[in-house]
Amino acid sequence: MGARKVLVTGCSSGIGLAVAVRLAKDELRRFKVVATMRDLDRREALEKAAGETLNRSLEIRQLDATCEDSIRECVNSLSDRRVDVLVNNAGVGMIGSLECQSVSDMQELFSTNFFGLVRLVKELLPDMKQRQSGHIVVMSSVLGFQGLLFNDVYAASKFAVEGFCESLAVQAMKFNVKARLTKYLIVSKNPPFRHQTNRLYVPLTAMKHADPTGQLPIDAFYKMIFQHDRMLNATLKWINLKTPPLRFRVDSESSRLRM
Ligand SMILES: NC(=O)c1ccc[n+]([C@@H]2O[C@H](COP(=O)([O-])OP(=O)(O)OC[C@H]3O[C@@H](n4cnc5c(N)ncnc54)[C@H](OP(=O)(O)O)[C@@H]3O)[C@@H](O)[C@H]2O)c1
Repeated sequence: MGARKVLVTGCSSGIGLAVAVRLAKDELRRFKVVATMRDLDRREALEKAAGETLNRSLEIRQLDATCEDSIRECVNSLSDRRVDVLVNNAGVGMIGSLECQSVSDMQELFSTNFFGLVRLVKELLPDMKQRQSGHIVVMSSVLGFQGLLFNDVYAASKFAVEGFCESLAVQAMKFNVKARLTKYLIVSKNPPFRHQTNRLYVPLTAMKHADPTGQLPIDAFYKMIFQHDRMLNATLKWINLKTPPLRFRVDSESSRLRM
């Protein structure tokens, strides 16, 4: 089998850049990467990280996830419009209280995080169905599973992504296309539908499953943030220590750690 063509969105920084470079440097040369970004002026970091894979196993193209024309132009520029693997990574965040956020900013966030995915899938899925093969990898978030204080709109966009993918995965399977909420399992033949990369989040998701009424995580977060905030602050400090001790006590007045 020849190298698979992987299109990654949002490669100017962060996870998108890292995934694109990692795949391009694959020792078994299983991938040809189309690393895309909305603003090509921001390509320097990617070019540097790509090193000698640039224009060999990694090529850089412009793609803005909020613009159908930009997506189509990018896909049309590829030989036979072929994309074997889509890594939908482009995303933006929004933290703060709802009252301070404008509805137009929220719509913009949804246009990238949710409708960006929808636009890309609409462009690529028909070809994948016809070829009876394809792989759609979506960067979701633990916040697509469990809401978090001051992340209302970001979490809502990732919940939307999760619902979309859960629904899509069924019809995709009929055409041998894998739709997956996974990060690093592109190389796996049988990746699970959902892959939680950070095990520190397991208690969050476990709480949600433990109580079908939904009250347990809400109560737990409320207590953690508004009633036991000293403990929370102390725990965050403990996490940041280079060599955290096995046990610690919290000074009840100052939240200082006592080892
Ligand atoms: N970092 C985490 O801990 C974490 C955790 C869970 C989920 N995620 C998800 O992982 C993905 C990547 O996050 P990251 O941490 O790597 O963030 P990041 O460093 O900010 O990267 C986001 C990328 O998306 C691009 N982007 C934004 N709007 C775009 C658009 N309209 N069209 C095309 N590209 C666009 C950005 O491009 P510009 O440079 O032009 O802005 C940037 O390249 C996101 O979907 C995020 O929600 C991240």
